[in-house]
Amino acid sequence: MAVPQRLLIRGGRVVNEDHSQLADVLVEDGVVRALGPDLLAAGTSAEGLRILDATGKLVLPGGIDTHTHLQFPFMGSQSVDDFYQGTKAALAGGTTMIIDFAIPQKGCSLIEAFDTWRSWADPKVCCDYSLHVAVTWWSDQVKEEMKTLTQNKGVNSFKMFMAYKDLYMVGDLELYEAFSQCKEIGAIAQVHAENGDLIVEGAKKMLALGITGPEGHELCRPEAVEAEATFRAITIANAVNCPLYVVHVMSKSSAKVIADARREGKVVFGEPIAASLGTDGTHYWNKEWHHAAHYVMGPPLRPDPSTPDFLMNLLANGDLTTTGTDNCTFNTCQKALGKDDFTKIPNGVNGVEDRMSVLWEKGVHSGKMDENRFVAVTSTNAAKIFNLYPKKGRIAVGSDADIVIWDPKATRTISAKTHHQAVNFNIFEGMVCHGVPLVTISRGKVVYEAGVFNVSAGDGKYIPRKPFAEYVYKRIKQRDEVKKAKEKRSRTLYLQRSHMTWSYLEAHLVSTPKDLFERIIAMELLFSQK
Ligand code: URP
Ligand code: ZN
Ligand code: ZN
Repeated sequence: MAVPQRLLIRGGRVVNEDHSQLADVLVEDGVVRALGPDLLAAGTSAEGLRILDATGKLVLPGGIDTHTHLQFPFMGSQSVDDFYQGTKAALAGGTTMIIDFAIPQKGCSLIEAFDTWRSWADPKVCCDYSLHVAVTWWSDQVKEEMKTLTQNKGVNSFKMFMAYKDLYMVGDLELYEAFSQCKEIGAIAQVHAENGDLIVEGAKKMLALGITGPEGHELCRPEAVEAEATFRAITIANAVNCPLYVVHVMSKSSAKVIADARREGKVVFGEPIAASLGTDGTHYWNKEWHHAAHYVMGPPLRPDPSTPDFLMNLLANGDLTTTGTDNCTFNTCQKALGKDDFTKIPNGVNGVEDRMSVLWEKGVHSGKMDENRFVAVTSTNAAKIFNLYPKKGRIAVGSDADIVIWDPKATRTISAKTHHQAVNFNIFEGMVCHGVPLVTISRGKVVYEAGVFNVSAGDGKYIPRKPFAEYVYKRIKQRDEVKKAKEKRSRTLYLQRSHMTWSYLEAHLVSTPKDLFERIIAMELLFSQK
């Protein structure tokens, strides 16, 4: 990688999750070196300094897309945005880090899958990245490999699929085992929450009725199918006191389950995606087959048009926590694998380039959230949950210089004709968004400016993540401590009670049975009051 530039971002409003301030930002050696008013006047050397004028603009931490599938071999095809084009498009949209998924086939090694994904990503990525790993089957080997991945390979999140029967789906007992191991090694468990058995039966019914088009995809897996699995996953995770992260929250029903669980104190986080926040499932009924097919993903977008607003409100008020995209793009000819049978349409939509603008338009411009909450849900919360904070997710001295100069007033119209992704369709086509990234800086290098890229394949770095993220595990550990202490106390009480009951009996063998009975009851009462 080229030597990072010395940069001074001048006169902008620096926005972090907790506050905003008018300040200059000095970037050296890929990190933020200084932050404060008028840094040149304060003595910063002007030698070799490139000045970027941010007057009237916002200076934001680069976005973190928590959920992508670049060049993913899936459903008889491979997603068309690869690690080069996908990460380049991410930068154009103001996202400076992605977290993709290494997904082994059933019976295969998790470590081999991880190494395969790294061999695909490392030579191509233009921005920093990390990898979640999927648990698609269960054995002692899987359990051991999860530990190795966490201790030696920088993985602290594992995704379990409750759908894709016979491919990736795991059952309740496997979830229980995987969640228990996540807890043991300090990882966060992630779930694709849909009832895979119900989907298979529902799809059979649709096809038998002659419904073969994309609308069948939603009809065979209504909201309850997502909500039931969400509730089940939360119940199982709670049983082992494991933190849970529900990926791609697509429905009001599922979001409500998560919000309720959080109000009950469960350690669960929900991730809506650009698609579920920016569009809806009415497109499945579009007259053009290809148009409808491009919205097919699992769980599906919901036909209830109030869904995006509802999810955005929950994201704004803290019921939902992060945003990803589930970017998994297939061209029309690939989608056509399912032209006669919706179950064969490769699942996936775009979003990696447009997430930040869609969130700004629907979240901030609409007045649902402020600029600070925007930073929290597009970057900081992800950095905290996946243990990247404050290196990522914050503009502060010492943080990585992943920065976006953002024009909140400018607008752009999203279109497949102008986007930088490989896919030939955009689910947000025609959407006018306030909030435009003018300059994107990745670890101190200006990689995108006024529509022009300065990137090289492989410039991005794999970012390892340590286990036991404080943001997730502080509460979990404390609950374990309290539980341990309680168990100890009740055991002592029980022993004392049985001991005293026996000595009492021995000492009063001559008493009448009635007298003895009354005294024992009195003792029981005494102990139960302690
Ligand atoms: O439709 C989707 N979501 N495709 C990618 C695989 C997954 O379930 O995340
Ligand atoms: Zn999924
Ligand atoms: Zn996904």
